[in-house]
Amino acid sequence: MARTTLSPPTLISSPVSDLKSLAAAARTCKACDLWKNATQTVFGEGSPDARIVFVGEQPGDREDLSGRPFVGPAGRLLDEALEAAGIDRKLVYVTNAVKHFKWVPDARGKRRIHKKPSYSEIAACRPWLDSELSALKPDVLVCLGATAAQALLGREFSVMRQRGRWIESPLARHVMATVHPSSILRAIDSDARKAQKQLFVSDLAKVAQIMRRIPKAA
Ligand code: URA
Repeated sequence: MARTTLSPPTLISSPVSDLKSLAAAARTCKACDLWKNATQTVFGEGSPDARIVFVGEQPGDREDLSGRPFVGPAGRLLDEALEAAGIDRKLVYVTNAVKHFKWVPDARGKRRIHKKPSYSEIAACRPWLDSELSALKPDVLVCLGATAAQALLGREFSVMRQRGRWIESPLARHVMATVHPSSILRAIDSDARKAQKQLFVSDLAKVAQIMRRIPKAA
């Protein structure tokens, strides 16, 4: 696999320009092969003053086409859950462990089917995520789903067993993993979907609760 020749900029001090420069540099990233079949790099998005960072797996079909993270069905569910939990969207930055859409064509060649990124693809993309976190220095980091959780909290991490708990981690003062909103969309029926969404909102309510205890920056 080709190594990237890009490195995140180091001499820029404000988070706004940091994130902008990072997003611009990531546009031409070829650190792994995923760029070849993707439309574009989908970098993280949100306020440079965001206090909460949500990390998903990788952009989906809609995100790949629009160039923005969490704008498809999973993003809509995330937005609804944030609102239900009382989390101000302005405090939130959303990004992904992998910044290119990995997909395979369906049997008829008509649809692009999401494919889980490999460990080497996640590792190749990691410098971008680390740079986003060092630019933002969030109070709270939330991993959405197993890919993000295992990328950031270790390969043994189990979202099923450890969801909704605060985890000791050098990545941020408060770190939690919960399910990915896509898993809720895949629930077998609407009752199951409703119950799973409620659990997701309960996990996010813990984030809202801890945010109320953190003094606001001047
Ligand atoms: N799923 C993700 O993990 N990230 C997105 O941006 C969209 C869907």
